[in-house]
Amino acid sequence: MELLEQYIREKGVVKKGNVLKVDSFLNHQMDVHLFSEMGREWKRLFADAPINKILTIEASGIGIACIAAQLFEVPVVFAKKAQSINIDGEVYASKVQSFTHKRVYDVIVSKKFLSPDDHILVIDDFLANGCAVNGLLDIIEASGATLEGVGIAVEKGFQEGGKLLRERGVRLESLAIVDAMDAKTGELTFRH
Ligand code: G4P
Ligand code: NA
Ligand code: NA
Repeated sequence: MELLEQYIREKGVVKKGNVLKVDSFLNHQMDVHLFSEMGREWKRLFADAPINKILTIEASGIGIACIAAQLFEVPVVFAKKAQSINIDGEVYASKVQSFTHKRVYDVIVSKKFLSPDDHILVIDDFLANGCAVNGLLDIIEASGATLEGVGIAVEKGFQEGGKLLRERGVRLESLAIVDAMDAKTGELTFRH
């Protein structure tokens, strides 16, 4: 998506350790005009899918998912990051290994908000190793809902997440795929 790539080029900052900082428009300060255009693009890409609910994960997926949901005219559910101690039979739960933060956490969704009747679009801001998205897919599977697809703002194409999802046959629409980035020069290469 041209507009998102333009934002990343103009406002993104490449940091050491393959981290792309986009906090001026995507995951700290949020550019709602950009989010609307992203939502419109997912709406176009998933036009034929019978999506009735969007699932995301706190924190930075929520804003993007809400604006998309307004266009899809469906509710949003966000998975919560929890302490294992709070997990009971009322929730679907999955463990997520975060490589960025070097820790394992649990994600949970109340059983009230996912059912076999649901057709889910998963939305998130970043796809790196795919651990967060995989946790959401586990939860969808446990609930008996149907996964219609995954919409990602920024996929880091040099990490495994996108490749593994595509190999599994998941319909994945990343609006920008960064195939390479250089912290010294700030240079970014997008996949087209
Ligand atoms: P994975 O889920 O794809 O496996 O990613 P990983 O564990 O490596 O990443 C953990 C967190 O870091 C995720 O946010 C993810 O969105 C974010 N992330 C990964 N790569 C980048 C990057 O290059 N730039 C930025 N800005 N973020 C990145 P989180 O900590 O789970 O949640 P949130 O509260 O920030 O939403
Ligand atoms: Na995220
Ligand atoms: Na994040």
